[in-house]
Amino acid sequence: MHTATCNAFSNIAMIKYWGNRDDALRLPANGSISMNLGGLFTRTTVTFSPDIPADRAEVDGKPMTGPGLARISGHLDHIRKLAGVWMRAEVKSASNFPAGAGIASSASAFAALSLAGVTALGLTLSERELSALARLGSGSASRSIPGGFVEWYPGTTHADSYAETIVPADHWALTDLIAIVSRAHKATGSTEGHSIAASSPLQAARVASAPTRLDICRKAILERDFEALADVVELDSNMMHAVMMTGTPSLMYWQPPTLAVMARVRELRAAGYGVCFTIDAGANVHCLCAPGEAERVKAELEAVPGVSEVLTATPGGPAWVERP
Ligand code: DP6
Repeated sequence: MHTATCNAFSNIAMIKYWGNRDDALRLPANGSISMNLGGLFTRTTVTFSPDIPADRAEVDGKPMTGPGLARISGHLDHIRKLAGVWMRAEVKSASNFPAGAGIASSASAFAALSLAGVTALGLTLSERELSALARLGSGSASRSIPGGFVEWYPGTTHADSYAETIVPADHWALTDLIAIVSRAHKATGSTEGHSIAASSPLQAARVASAPTRLDICRKAILERDFEALADVVELDSNMMHAVMMTGTPSLMYWQPPTLAVMARVRELRAAGYGVCFTIDAGANVHCLCAPGEAERVKAELEAVPGVSEVLTATPGGPAWVERP
């Protein structure tokens, strides 16, 4: 039996990926930096067998059909091609956090699927090759293969667009408090969003200035400089959402409680709390906290009207294989 079970953490981008230079290969318009979210993960089992007539997949207990299944099957094709086999597969995958709500489930899911797929077929890939492979399934999945604080180099070809660790998880005890304001599935998925990005007149400016923000962010992480990190993280998130709002069609992921949390985080920071916000393609707000700040920030976030729950994550390690 060609089977393996693997796990991967989700991640939160501090410098965002939004828009591709090549949609098919998911070569991003700009580099990005993220932190793996320890505790928020996807566990995936892949089984290849000559007895399986067609790829099938179950995600969070539900059988996949249509475009969802086609995306998984297309990713399995990349893995089959690498191994030179044509066996079909069964995929069973489950995440321990809500899908489609601004917590990147596609990142942990395609990272876990990539590692499980290659492990099941006995392939040995370097971390860099695995990251590039995961990127073909979902761009942000490239960043869930390595551990800790991670940078994805945009590259210009498949092989040189991959992510690697800047510093491991234990370098800096940040906490991500995810203020849940909506568990609804997002209206426009990231893949479609990336294809719209270039229609915003602001995207060119965002992409051109990304290297500067990447430098500031990388340095802030290396030096554990929370104030510098907070400024660049909020700026980068706001720039991505400005692009989203000003494209054609216009995408608006924020809901009224999203803004309420952003305003509260600004107030808290002005009052001396070590906290800043960043938001992905959804309404929930990731509130990054400096070491030692999470407990008092969490209490404040829970008191914001419209916040139903606050999830907690600390820096997580790399994707891993479960030994049977
Ligand atoms: C807003 O990686 O989910 O979370 O490659 O189409 O799967 P696909 O997109 P995805 O895009 C992530 C967008 C983001 C920002 C980020 O994580 O960098």
